[in-house]
Amino acid sequence: MTGTPTLNAAPQPLLIVDDLSVHRGAAKILDRVKLTVEKGETLALVGESGAGKSTIATALMGLLTGAKVEGHAELEGTGDLLSLPSKQLVKLRGQRISMIFQDAGAALNPAYTVGRQLISALRRNLGLSRRDARERAIDLFSSVGINDAEARLSAFPHQLSGGMQQRVMVAIALACNPDLLLADEPTSALDVTIQAQIVRLILSQTRARGASCIFVLHDLALASQSCDRIVVLYAGQVVECGPARDVLERHRHPYTRQLKSCVLEIGRQDLEAPEGTVPSHDSMPPGCRFATRCPRALPRCAAEMPPLTPACDDRDGASDHAFACWNPE
Ligand SMILES: Nc1ncnc2c1ncn2[C@@H]1O[C@H](COP(=O)(O)OP(=O)(O)O)[C@@H](O)[C@H]1O
Ligand code: SF4
Ligand SMILES: [Mg+2]
Repeated sequence: MTGTPTLNAAPQPLLIVDDLSVHRGAAKILDRVKLTVEKGETLALVGESGAGKSTIATALMGLLTGAKVEGHAELEGTGDLLSLPSKQLVKLRGQRISMIFQDAGAALNPAYTVGRQLISALRRNLGLSRRDARERAIDLFSSVGINDAEARLSAFPHQLSGGMQQRVMVAIALACNPDLLLADEPTSALDVTIQAQIVRLILSQTRARGASCIFVLHDLALASQSCDRIVVLYAGQVVECGPARDVLERHRHPYTRQLKSCVLEIGRQDLEAPEGTVPSHDSMPPGCRFATRCPRALPRCAAEMPPLTPACDDRDGASDHAFACWNPE
C-alpha cells in the first residue's frame, strides 16, 4: 500500500478544454473556448451553422488540417490531446475517444463490407482474434438495433439505408468502449422519421457504457431534453454554458433566447437564424460578436468583449451556469 485513499475527493472531470483557439490564416475560427465534460455526462454543443462546433470536435480528435491550434484539452489519464504526438493520438482514437460524423455514408469506406470495417477496428484496437472480433461485431450490431446482424456484416455501405449506415457508425464508434464519444450532428443527413431514434440510440448506448458524450446539435430544445449540460457557441466563442435546465429556463444571454425562440425541427440543415449577420472571421469586432444582432446592445458592447461570468442562480449557488454579456436578461 503506497498511499492513503482520499475520502470524498471530488471526481476528476474526464475532459477539460481550456482556451482552445483555432486560426485559419487571419481568421480566428475558435476563440479561447473553455468547456468541461464530467465522467458519464452528456454535453450538448449548440449554435447555428458556422459557429465552430465541428471545429471543436475535429480539433479534439486531432483531425484538423491547415489550421493553427492553441490551448489545452486534458483528457484524464492521457494529458493534453492538443499536443500529443500523432502516433499516440492514433492509438487513442477508437479506444478512448471516438467520433460519429454527420454523414455516415461519407464516413464509411464504400469498398469494404460494413462487417469488415467493424471487425478490423476491433482487431486493430482490441487485439481480438478474427473469430472473437466477428462475435463481438454481431453483438454490437444487435445492440444498436440492426436486425439480422450476422447477415448484415456482409453488406456494403451502399446496400444499407442512411439510418442503418448511421447505426453501423454508432457500432464502430462504440466498439472499443471509448470514454468519450463525439457525435457531430449525427442525424442531420437522415430522414426526419428516424432522427429521434438515432439520437436516443446514441444517448442510451453511451449511458449504458458509462461513457461521456459531446453531442453537437442545432436544436436547443432537443439538447435540453437529452443532455446534462449545454454550451452555447456563437461565432467561435462560448456565450453561455451550464446545466441544461438552467440554460434553457434561466438563460441570461440574448442569443440563447433567440435560439430558444427559433422554430426548430430536429435535423434541419440550418438553424433558422436570428436576424442579421454574423461578423466574418477576419473582421471580428473588438467587443461582443453578437452586438450587430442584439436587441439589448449598449454602447460599451461593440467596444469591450464581455467575459464569461458566473450566473449565480438563486436556486443553486454551486451551479456552473455562466454567460458572457454586459446587459444580460
Ligand atoms: N477546412 C476549412 N477551411 C476553411 N474554413 C473552414 C474549414 N472548416 C471550417 N471552416 C470555417 O470555420 C468556421 C466554423 O466551421 P464549423 O466548425 O464547421 O462550424 P459548425 O460546425 O458550427 O457549423 C466556419 O466559418 C467555416 O467556414
Ligand atoms: S454584450 Fe451587449 S451586444 Fe452582446 S449580447 Fe450582451 S447586451 Fe447584447
Ligand atoms: Mg458542423
